[in-house]
Amino acid sequence: MAELADADAVVNTDLTYIREQLDTEMARLSGRRLLITGGAGFLGYYMVQAVLRQNDESGREPVELTILDNFMRGTPPWIARISERSDVKLLTHDIRQPLPDSLGQWTSLSTQQGSQAPMSTGVTPSRPWTPTSTD
Ligand SMILES: NC(=O)c1ccc[n+]([C@@H]2O[C@H](COP(=O)([O-])OP(=O)(O)OC[C@H]3O[C@@H](n4cnc5c(N)ncnc54)[C@H](O)[C@@H]3O)[C@@H](O)[C@H]2O)c1
Repeated sequence: MAELADADAVVNTDLTYIREQLDTEMARLSGRRLLITGGAGFLGYYMVQAVLRQNDESGREPVELTILDNFMRGTPPWIARISERSDVKLLTHDIRQPLPDSLGQWTSLSTQQGSQAPMSTGVTPSRPWTPTSTD
């Protein structure tokens, strides 16, 4: 039990650090739509939690987050816990297939203008990334 508490403390420290270090980038995402592909995985956990922490703690307009994953390894319990949030949409989809039109446009976390990729954990969308007019 003590080991689990230690693990939670490490993750919490990591997320606090990520959120603090990315505050400028997170501010840019405020009020915008963000797609995280492979979002149910290990790296996805950190990306998703960092965004949700900003939504909960920053006082800024929330990021509208879409988590795309084919859930090939099942649905992790933490995904089930956040699925009811109004700032989260879950999209079960294989990224090798064209993205559904209903997804519309989304925002990259990159600070570079005209970035060519959505915030991703490593799988590449089969349709080109279209920057929003505010990028
Ligand atoms: N974990 C690390 O420390 C680390 C370091 C460097 C690079 N990477 C790379 O980053 C990527 C993600 O790493 P991870 O540790 O989060 O892996 P992971 O296996 O924990 O997560 C990958 C996620 O992608 C989903 N997925 C796989 N194929 C998919 C598809 N076709 N369509 C939609 N979703 C799909 C899986 O269901 C899973 O939830 C990998 O390519 C990995 O090699 C990871």
